[in-house]
Amino acid sequence: MAGVRIAGVGHYAPERVVDNRDLERWLDTSDEWITTRTGMKRRHWTSDHEATSDLALAAARRALASAGLEAEEIDAYIVCTVYPDFLFPATASIVAAKLGAQDKAAFDMEIACSGFIYGLTVASSLIRSGVYNRIMLIGAETLSKLIDREDRGTAVLFGDGAGAVVLQASHEDSFLASELGSDGSKPELLRVEAGGSRTPLTHAALDRKADRIHMEGREVFKFAVTKMIDATDKALEKANLAKSDVDVLIPHQANKRIIDAAMKYLEIPPERCIVNIQEYGNTSAASIPIALSEAVRDGKIADGDIIVFVGFGAGLSWGAVVWKWSVDKVGMAS
Ligand code: ACO
Repeated sequence: MAGVRIAGVGHYAPERVVDNRDLERWLDTSDEWITTRTGMKRRHWTSDHEATSDLALAAARRALASAGLEAEEIDAYIVCTVYPDFLFPATASIVAAKLGAQDKAAFDMEIACSGFIYGLTVASSLIRSGVYNRIMLIGAETLSKLIDREDRGTAVLFGDGAGAVVLQASHEDSFLASELGSDGSKPELLRVEAGGSRTPLTHAALDRKADRIHMEGREVFKFAVTKMIDATDKALEKANLAKSDVDVLIPHQANKRIIDAAMKYLEIPPERCIVNIQEYGNTSAASIPIALSEAVRDGKIADGDIIVFVGFGAGLSWGAVVWKWSVDKVGMAS
């Protein structure tokens, strides 16, 4: 069986920055509340003409440049998102075509904020089993278009952005273990109800804002802390590693208090946990690859480091991947 490694990373966020003070102008909220309850200071929101594929494309171009590869050298394109350009076709097909790689495999994965963790597991497995040599894995979201901007319980939390990684076959194997899970018994805790086959988009659905994100924040919070810790534990056990072996933690950026709880449990000092929630808010499936891309750019990850990627989200869903960072000959800055 082949190994897999990350050969390139890139990220992109829209130019428009919305800070907490901007939100105060139309919401009954405050910079103080948002900062202390979430750790968020700013988020990036798309303009009307930008769609998810535009963000994904920008991140993918940067990941290709970082890997020193051309688009046609990638065998398959995967986009993890909850808000694709269209119900169909897949956003990944649009991104591949815009990169000039029309004849490649392309598909989307929709597992909300756990999307990148699931995607990393699937893409790595496709490479390790020899089906493909190189895969572009992208997390991309435009959640600013999916929130009810009048709902202070969700509007302050979400932002837009995209992160991309190029995965490629390698002699050394970076993929050490994965732990994935889901519990679909209470979808109402976090969902967009209307727009699917259960509740088609009707005027009545639009009137009650059923096409917007609805979340039971407190319930999701409790679940998130438990599952972040549990998934990490199980993934480390599968990898035959201990908590003390973890060099870098890259968690989904949903709430600084959730991240702090996971850091405390893992006894990871702040300098080894990648946190950029203050700049982007919660970008769902994009948050982990954006954080990874920034960490690589800032020299926070070294060859041989043991990384835990861990996330959770709607489904409910959760997952953790244990990864050994490997800097190879190709392109990637060390
Ligand atoms: N500004 C001011 N006050 C607010 C705001 C706001 N933006 N939002 C809520 N409040 C108020 C509430 O109305 C409540 O007021 P009350 O006491 O008078 O009823 C009070 O603040 C406390 O509300 P809580 O919901 O208990 O606040 P909490 O400390 O739990 O923080 C939050 C809320 C930030 C949403 C938190 O519960 C959370 O982060 N939950 C997890 C969210 C998450 O992780 N989502 C990830 C998945 S996303 C995906 O998969 C797409």
